[in-house]
Amino acid sequence: MTDIKKTLITSALPYINGIKHLGNLAGSLLPADIHARYRRQTGDDVLFICATDEHGTPAELASAEAGLPIAVYCAQQHGIQADIYRRLGISFDHFGRSSSPQNQALTQHFFKSLDDRGFIEERTLNQVYSLDDRRFLPDRYIVGTCPHCRFDRARGDQCENCSRLLEPTDLIRPRSAVSGGTNLEVRPTKHLFLRQQALVGALETWLASRKGWPHLVTSIARKWLDEGIQDRCITRDLAWGVPVPKEGFEGKVFYVWFDAPIEYIAATQEWADADPDNRDWKKWWWQADDVEYLQFLGKDNVPFHTVSFPCTLLGSGEPWKTVDVIKGVSWLTYEGQKFSTSQHRGVFLDQALDLLPADYWRWWLAANAPEGSDAAFSFERFAAGVNNDLADTFGNLVNRVLKFVIAKYDGVVPAAGKTGELEHSLAAELTQHLANLKSHQEERSLRKAADEVRAIWSVANAYLVSGAPWSHVIKEPDHAAVVVRTSVNLVALAATVAWPFIPTTAERVLEALGSNSEPSWPSSAAEALALIEGGRRIDVPPILFEKLSAEWVETNRAKFAGVDRH
Ligand code: 2FM
Ligand code: ZN
Repeated sequence: MTDIKKTLITSALPYINGIKHLGNLAGSLLPADIHARYRRQTGDDVLFICATDEHGTPAELASAEAGLPIAVYCAQQHGIQADIYRRLGISFDHFGRSSSPQNQALTQHFFKSLDDRGFIEERTLNQVYSLDDRRFLPDRYIVGTCPHCRFDRARGDQCENCSRLLEPTDLIRPRSAVSGGTNLEVRPTKHLFLRQQALVGALETWLASRKGWPHLVTSIARKWLDEGIQDRCITRDLAWGVPVPKEGFEGKVFYVWFDAPIEYIAATQEWADADPDNRDWKKWWWQADDVEYLQFLGKDNVPFHTVSFPCTLLGSGEPWKTVDVIKGVSWLTYEGQKFSTSQHRGVFLDQALDLLPADYWRWWLAANAPEGSDAAFSFERFAAGVNNDLADTFGNLVNRVLKFVIAKYDGVVPAAGKTGELEHSLAAELTQHLANLKSHQEERSLRKAADEVRAIWSVANAYLVSGAPWSHVIKEPDHAAVVVRTSVNLVALAATVAWPFIPTTAERVLEALGSNSEPSWPSSAAEALALIEGGRRIDVPPILFEKLSAEWVETNRAKFAGVDRH
């Protein structure tokens, strides 16, 4: 029996309401994908799961704005997002939907388990009801004038202008953000609370058993616990969502943040249901002690994954898999400001793909990942990174070596000569870089891993320059042949280590070399340098990366300054 490691990876579920921006890609989807690809390269049995997060008021409002029934709107948007992630090379095993029947059943199951075990409590709340909309309004859908700064579009939970936290009743001249109606009144309404305070002990024990979490994640979780966890209202007066299966709660649904993380499990069921003879969701989630479970998410999502979702799982009293490692990522800023979906600020993923192929974005966002602290995107920095790393370092290496093989050896890797000192010291240098890269990949340090990939590209270029086959091809053909053959292998290695970051380009290069285009992790540097033997016919792929000019930067900076997508 081989000991294949089972690795479950989830990326935070993107909201359904509209196409996401580069910040969302950098914050969870891309780090998760790079890690999933790396784990596949090293031979793990990987299951990479994601889905659209489809419930909640934002989805309701977006569908109303689009003039579509909500189910139709969600189905459409799911298709659009799925297509964009496919084009970005995000290698989900399944991209599900939190509105699936599987998630409805599982969410209701969790609720019943929690209720049976005494962790659910009924309370009556006073909430704002809009007579014009004939519905209760969540705090953020009541707008009015801020009592502190007089901003006239302050929301009922917070003023965007002065950042002060508000209650809807604080607002001057409150109105409904849905219809603008001012016929609002406070009405009592019954809700269900998850008694998180009763689960603090279990949660503390569980948290103490989690090892090696990044500082960002533990400090956010600790802050929540130290400030005292509150019981959490898990129901809403909305029509769209998972219905609450309890007498007296007809017409109410679960809060979107209750059912969304449950979709990690339900999406795995969706995946298994598509091929039940060969797939088993339970082996990933039920008594799955042999699975390593990693979650990738933006830092704003950390409390929901370190406190709320674990309370659901632990409170059920059932043997569900809980997360082993959380990778929380900070923000990417856009030309000095925040990316914002609601204000349409930044580059959205469809626009990014219209501008350039996925690998340009993937590389830059990984090499500049907002880890530890925020990172700044600007077109200028982006172009500098692309030109330097992708065009001048990687692209140039591939092009120079492979063109030389075509020009001087008729496209056949030369077989003559024996490796010498230069190749031995090259192998030693690469051994160190591969070890560093492996450890950065295993720690999910994207920037450091990208630095190491770049370093391997540079070592390859330096070897080529010092071997200078173009100067020796006539007088010392054996030496030239060794350098060229080794360089072809370096190109393969350079593409192999880059595959998690720039998969489409790496695959094109490996295909041109007649190699396995889904490359496994090299067993050693020395072996990697001898993989492609003399006599193999190779090809040159077309230019891999175009350089981005100063005009390109200016044009796009201007084009995306305060874009209004409507
Ligand atoms: O912040 C967000 O984009 C949420 N839709 C993330 C949900 S993650 C999970 F819990 F579902
Ligand atoms: Zn204010």
